[in-house]
Amino acid sequence: MVKTIGLLTSGGDAPGMNACIRSIVRGALNLGIKVIGIRRGYQGLIENDVFEMDKNSVSNIIMKGGTILFSARSKEYETKEGLEKAFDNYKKNKLDCLIALGGDGTFRGAFDLAKKGANVIGVPASIDLDINCTEYTIGFDTAINTAMDCIDKIRDTSNSHKRCSIIEVMGRNAGYIAAYAAIATGAEEMLIPENRDFAEPESIAVRLKMAMKKGKTHYIIVNAEGIGHSQEIADKLESLTGIACRVAVLGYLQRGGSPTCKDRVYATIMGMKAVEAFVDGKKNRLIVYENGEFKDLDMSEGLVMLKSVSEDMRTILPKIENK
Ligand code: F6P
Repeated sequence: MVKTIGLLTSGGDAPGMNACIRSIVRGALNLGIKVIGIRRGYQGLIENDVFEMDKNSVSNIIMKGGTILFSARSKEYETKEGLEKAFDNYKKNKLDCLIALGGDGTFRGAFDLAKKGANVIGVPASIDLDINCTEYTIGFDTAINTAMDCIDKIRDTSNSHKRCSIIEVMGRNAGYIAAYAAIATGAEEMLIPENRDFAEPESIAVRLKMAMKKGKTHYIIVNAEGIGHSQEIADKLESLTGIACRVAVLGYLQRGGSPTCKDRVYATIMGMKAVEAFVDGKKNRLIVYENGEFKDLDMSEGLVMLKSVSEDMRTILPKIENK
């Protein structure tokens, strides 16, 4: 009997999702497994918006951002009726497993289906890196490189005008994108939810004035969206210091673009790991990266794990400040 895998991408798209889709489709077909692509995440499963994928359906996508399966944040799926419809279509399509690419919300959605009797495998794809059970998520590397390039450019103009610049980056409630982008660009400050105490405009103003007095020609502040209020912070700093302060919100730029080499490679390996977990007869797993290894974890275990931006990352900037 030919086995069938359903495949969807859900939540915010992430560069590298296509590389992962390609790996799952090609890997599964090579093992004689049928793949049903589901468009628009769980909403597409509710509406049975599906098609059979073949090797050509994933040609020329490894270098593309976004997701060829489209994505959605389905409100209907959060209702009892929506979940029921999705499970009915899981059965109607005779799926032996559903592989879901996305973040925490996607995994919780998959777990709800598992509780109804579906077999689900989650692959972490989110630019935010905020999935607790894994040290790597598909798309994060591309997003931080995009943020880094943008901040490097902003620094040029900030420098020419001797201004303070606040650059707001994505990351939802986590400060990973902000922390990496700040350290990589030699920023003066990172404002992240994990270090709220450093985000007080009064104390930033003291450090900003001091830095400019000592001859600095720019002052780069990378602000996480979990802190937000960039314009308010800029206005406050300008009124407290008299130093011009400009804001740039990078927004969806960080979600797009061709995936980096790392995202393509890791996404490809994680996709194949998901197929292998299914072939090995495993049920309800999450594919994760931990201590240099790709592995799979029990889904219920993975969903309750905790992690945070490391102490080393949170505390590095003041230590290397030009004093
Ligand atoms: O999870 C990825 C992300 O881009 C977050 O950084 C951001 O908070 C959110 O998605 C934005 O979501 P939406 O695409 O629904 O506006």
